[in-house]
Amino acid sequence: MIRSQITGCGTYLPARIMENSDLESIVDTSAEWIEQRTGIRQRHIVAENETTADIGEKAAREALAAAGVDPADLDMIILATSTPNNTFPATAVEIQSRLGMHHGYAFDMQAVCSGFVFALTTADQYIRNGSVKKILVIGAETFSRILDWTDRTTCVLFGDGAGAVVVEAAEGDGTMADRGILTSHLRSDGSHKEKLFVDGGPSTTGTVGHLRMQGREVFRHAVGMITDVIEAAYDSTGFTSEDIDWFVPHQANKRIIDASARKLGIPSEKVVITVDRHGNTSAASIPLALCEAARDGRIKRGDIVLLEAMGGGFTWGSVLLRW
Ligand code: UT7
Repeated sequence: MIRSQITGCGTYLPARIMENSDLESIVDTSAEWIEQRTGIRQRHIVAENETTADIGEKAAREALAAAGVDPADLDMIILATSTPNNTFPATAVEIQSRLGMHHGYAFDMQAVCSGFVFALTTADQYIRNGSVKKILVIGAETFSRILDWTDRTTCVLFGDGAGAVVVEAAEGDGTMADRGILTSHLRSDGSHKEKLFVDGGPSTTGTVGHLRMQGREVFRHAVGMITDVIEAAYDSTGFTSEDIDWFVPHQANKRIIDASARKLGIPSEKVVITVDRHGNTSAASIPLALCEAARDGRIKRGDIVLLEAMGGGFTWGSVLLRW
């Protein structure tokens, strides 16, 4: 049986750090409110001329180097982003070109904060059907560009960043002892659109628009949706929370992460947290957290790792893998 294994990881965070206290001079907020309600202490913000393609390329190059994979050997690229450089072409194609790749194919995937889980699941499908062997999966976002910096209910929550992984085909024996992606579960429900959306677009306003969110409403749905796709992962693998070595959730709010882990019975020492330093980087948050924990030695070969995300759409999903 073909399994999809992550063989290399890369990250990039813009140099500029915005502390909570910096936001006090921009909107009517306090550093304490932000930290207490979200767990966020700081976030990274791109430089004026820095784009999603720039930061995605940097994470991608690091992941390729870590995997020892040359762009010439890649079959495809999937970029999860809601903040592409242009309405079209896909920013993935721009990164493909910058990597000197003129073969294969590249496309963007748009599932907002669930984007990386959607992209990784898509990569897994391509690999397991035997059509490709090496895929670069990137999550890269410049949400600072779509924030309304006069809206204190949203602008304090997000940050910019990029993470990337190389996914390669490997032989498994079809059991849960295999390394690689063991199961994934995706969901969406467009009836929740108004709770989290961008109020512009090429076919409506002809402008880019700004992020709008009913934060309390999103929060209210988040824990139930997250546990739904994690229970689906448990049902299809036979694993339980006791088997999870590392829980790598989307990093939107420390309170959502804590409530989900508590409901599932996952102890806090097994939860990877970056939201304190990165804020919510949407589709980049999971690869950033995953790569950090893999590089600092927390996630070890053979560990069971559970990824989950929930975001605009609503979209939500989980991936369970053995590292
Ligand atoms: O990636 C997925 C997408 N996003 C999320 O998952 C975010 C989900 N939602 C959340 O994380 C939380 O709902 C927030 C962090 C957005 C808000 O936390 P909350 O505990 O749900 O607060 P709230 O919206 O109920 O607001 C409480 C109070 C309000 O004042 P009143 O009406 O009680 O007087 C807000 O106006 O806090 C006020 N407030 C602020 N105060 C200081 C809202 N934003 C701020 C702010 N600074 N930045």
